Amino acid sequence: MIGTASGRRIGITGLGVHVPERVLTNHELATIVDTSDEWIVERTGIRERRIAADDEALTDIALPAARAALEDAGLAASEVDLLICATVTPDMMFPTSSALLADTLGMPRVAAYDLLAGCTGFVYAIAQAYAMLASGLSQRALVVGGDVLSKILDWDDRSTLVLFGDGAGAVVMEPVERGGFLGFELGADGGGGEHLWFPGSGSRRFDDPGALLKMNGREVFRFATRVLVSSGHALLEECGKTIEDVDVYVPHQANKRIIDHAARKLGVPDGRTVVNVDRFGNTSSGSIPLALADARAEGRIHEGSLVLMTGMGAGLTWGSALVEWVDSSAVAGR
Ligand code: UT7
Repeated sequence: MIGTASGRRIGITGLGVHVPERVLTNHELATIVDTSDEWIVERTGIRERRIAADDEALTDIALPAARAALEDAGLAASEVDLLICATVTPDMMFPTSSALLADTLGMPRVAAYDLLAGCTGFVYAIAQAYAMLASGLSQRALVVGGDVLSKILDWDDRSTLVLFGDGAGAVVMEPVERGGFLGFELGADGGGGEHLWFPGSGSRRFDDPGALLKMNGREVFRFATRVLVSSGHALLEECGKTIEDVDVYVPHQANKRIIDHAARKLGVPDGRTVVNVDRFGNTSSGSIPLALADARAEGRIHEGSLVLMTGMGAGLTWGSALVEWVDSSAVAGR
């Protein structure tokens, strides 16, 4: 699916993130499985990641991120009428994490649902929120992206254990008078689904009763390097932009080698790619908002910045969004 903005102009007006306190370094991982800091840094660029406590679930880390995004937007939770939570690690299948978050935040008139699109979940969710807002069905949306993949990892499997971390982010989206989203490109290929899967997590029975994440790293690597480039290219062309127009490139933070490859193939000018995979690993749906927050904190994203985000992950899925960043003075009717 590909399309450019139409209907009301919609922007991101608030951003918040949260990660668990516990830092797990590569050196510590090397005491758990047969790996080394050297191997992990060379093959992935990851140095450390955050890991949720035993009693910490998705909504525990998503709630502070959601509150921070609302505060950043200068909104009370009750002023928001749509909450989408992108995750593959909800507290439980139901009640949904979005409904639980809405209840805790105090959102009596909200439509709330979880969205499952692997690590691309956040990009899918902002596209959905965009469509609801641009059409006038919703007035203000809170989009949460977060995962606690540490809970579904096989802690004996070095090929997946070293890659992932826990974290969450949230954005507020609402009508704006300038800037905002230019377009989206989203895709899915269930034929490649077997390369990154979580058997036993749903209604299909498997002989192996252990419900843990499984991945064919090489295949996912090949897929990732292909779709990050094709999706970014396609969306820029659809929106009548070139890579030189992009001020900040925010790819899914899965592996520094994948990011470098995509940035090189796309021709992203030096210094415009956001990389924080070294500190957080792959946080799945939390990855893009965490990278946006770091870029903004560093002063790299500000009013007028053109931001290209591209996610990819289980499904297999991928998705890009192009947005012109605005500050709070752009909010319509406030
Ligand atoms: O959101 C999407 C999520 N997933 C991804 O983005 C993953 C994409 N894939 C990757 O990032 C890379 O494929 C990995 C980082 C997972 C693996 O890197 P690679 O360069 O593709 O390594 P490989 O799978 O080809 O394995 C090379 C060697 C193997 O040993 P042999 O067979 O050559 O003796 C592995 O057993 O590295 C070994 N290996 C490790 N060694 C030390 C695999 N994992 C580890 C490890 N520490 N943690």
